Amino acid sequence: MKKFYVTTPIYYPSAKAHLGHCYSTIAADVLARYKRMQGCDVKFVTGTDEHGMKIETCAKKANLSPIEYVNRIVAQFKELWKVLNISYDVFIRTTDDYHVKSVQKIFKDLYDKGYIYKGKYGGWYCSPCEAFFTDSQLVDKKCPDCGREVVWSEEDSYFFKLSLFQDRILDLLKNSEGFIEPVSRKNEMIKFVESGLQDFCVSRSSFSWGIPVTFDDKHVVYVWLDALTNYINAIGYNRDDEEFKHFWPADVHIMGKEIVRFHSVIWPAILMALDLPVPKKIFGHGWIILGGDKMSKSKGNVVDPFVLCEKYGEDALRYFLLKEIPFGSDGPFSNEAFINKINSDLANDLGNLLSRSTALVDKCFGGTLLGELKPDSDDEHLASLVRSLKNKVEIHLDNLEFSLALNEIWNVVAECNKYMNVCTPWDKKRYAEDQIRLSTILYNVLETLRVVSVLIYPFMPKTASKIQSQIGASRKVCGWHQSDKWGVLDKKVKVNRENAIFPRLDVDKELSYLENDESSEDERLISIEDFKKVELRVVEVLKCEKIEKSNKLLKLSVFDGSKNRTIVSGIAKYYSPEDMVGKKIVIVANLKPSKIFGIESQGMLVAGSDGNSLEVMEARNIGAGSILS
Ligand code: MSP
Repeated sequence: MKKFYVTTPIYYPSAKAHLGHCYSTIAADVLARYKRMQGCDVKFVTGTDEHGMKIETCAKKANLSPIEYVNRIVAQFKELWKVLNISYDVFIRTTDDYHVKSVQKIFKDLYDKGYIYKGKYGGWYCSPCEAFFTDSQLVDKKCPDCGREVVWSEEDSYFFKLSLFQDRILDLLKNSEGFIEPVSRKNEMIKFVESGLQDFCVSRSSFSWGIPVTFDDKHVVYVWLDALTNYINAIGYNRDDEEFKHFWPADVHIMGKEIVRFHSVIWPAILMALDLPVPKKIFGHGWIILGGDKMSKSKGNVVDPFVLCEKYGEDALRYFLLKEIPFGSDGPFSNEAFINKINSDLANDLGNLLSRSTALVDKCFGGTLLGELKPDSDDEHLASLVRSLKNKVEIHLDNLEFSLALNEIWNVVAECNKYMNVCTPWDKKRYAEDQIRLSTILYNVLETLRVVSVLIYPFMPKTASKIQSQIGASRKVCGWHQSDKWGVLDKKVKVNRENAIFPRLDVDKELSYLENDESSEDERLISIEDFKKVELRVVEVLKCEKIEKSNKLLKLSVFDGSKNRTIVSGIAKYYSPEDMVGKKIVIVANLKPSKIFGIESQGMLVAGSDGNSLEVMEARNIGAGSILS
């Protein structure tokens, strides 16, 4: 069986996943599903790149340990891939034990072979990119990748002898057909290598959140060496030889254009040093642009894919991203374009074709076609387009031309809609005497939909199954190899009409929903003036007793600095009256009094709960009457 190994970049779990991250992952998923349909033994690897200074800093800011911090974000990434129906085989985390051990062994092996040596490093460091640059690499004295400030940094370091590989890498870039795509990126990389490859530093000693170098524990392995080797570790390098030999080299590494340099220069050099074959293809796609800028958390212009999937279904998003933006180029995302595309391509072209054809089968034949065919010259054009579709789609998918593959499919959908408009199967009079012809026309439309459903499966798996179920196509007739055949669907097929697969959307309504949703976080924010309205005051508990007939409430008598007050509070499950007496606690002192169990409560005490336990906020070292601000 032929194998196919596809990867996404492993993402930094420094902040929540956004639409930009979905792009590489959806593309890789489409390829993986396509190759599985073709019968290949597929390995699809994605994961998270969890070490490095950036993560260490984020964790510190969040008051968490690095592993606690990344665990939370990794869970969100995994949840997003579930929502997007991503069929990965391996989710590798660079904190996984097997990865850590393999990275340590790789580092030691490279050191033992003389490809890694110890020296001193000075360079311009970009902390968000975790990368060092030389003077000549900087653009306007800023990071050439992200355009941010860089700082001069020096440390004792281990170096990888990248310079040794200059000729071999240049030869690879120039002469290996299809190694880097699109070709424009290949030329960029050739120029970069021709300007001279320098040894680069593969360890850090200025922070500790990384994989320790086994023979020098002051150092951790540089994140890019750690991260790139995920591609071999995930499939058994240093662990499962058979699996590794079966899947390596990767058929394609998919990534954004900004990290092509790491993958097409550094990664092959590391592999050469390890005596391993290089990947067959590095594909650097473009960026999803929002309001004229690359979408990124730090620029605050991210779109929440969870919201889009929940409201419009993951297939709509998968379709939009791959249809609208030619893979390889940058392309804009806007809510408006997204909603309009759902209406035009999914609700109108595809959805309508399905609903009007199944509705007619119901209406004219009680849901089941006659089982006899009467072909006509009108049919041949459609049939031949359908038969040749699979081949065109395969050529485009093999070239990662997702948008062209979808164009071909939608051309056939359009032709089929035209066929219906020419044949007018809704014209009762026209077919009053020729029910077999009417049944044939509807059969042809359903047969087209069968083929379309198979070919869109890699892009829109859920939609494909919905179509197949509605047109009564069993799994047996929906294999990939049956998508260039005409006449496979049972002639006496029974349809199962259901709701529209993509209901038409009211653009204004949806835009206002999405825009409000995007600002909902802002609406939760209050001004300092609002906060100042709340009087938080320290009071001392003088007396405390249970309230009869209530097992939740305690009645407290407190001194607020000038007078005594009564407060009723639902803390009896967590505190006995004796616990409370003598405590100095915080209350909201300017709440309107309210009656609880017939007792007027003159304030509310402040407490926090994590769902299991509850704790009253105390102020041990400031006097009763103090105001918190
Ligand atoms: N951790 C490294 C990759 C190591 S791979 C051995 C990294 N991580 S990242 O979280 O910054 O994600 C990078 C990838 O996310 C990009 O290469 C790209 O695939 C995707 N994208 C992030 N923002 C994007 C857009 N705005 N548009 C399209 N893809 C983008 O770099």
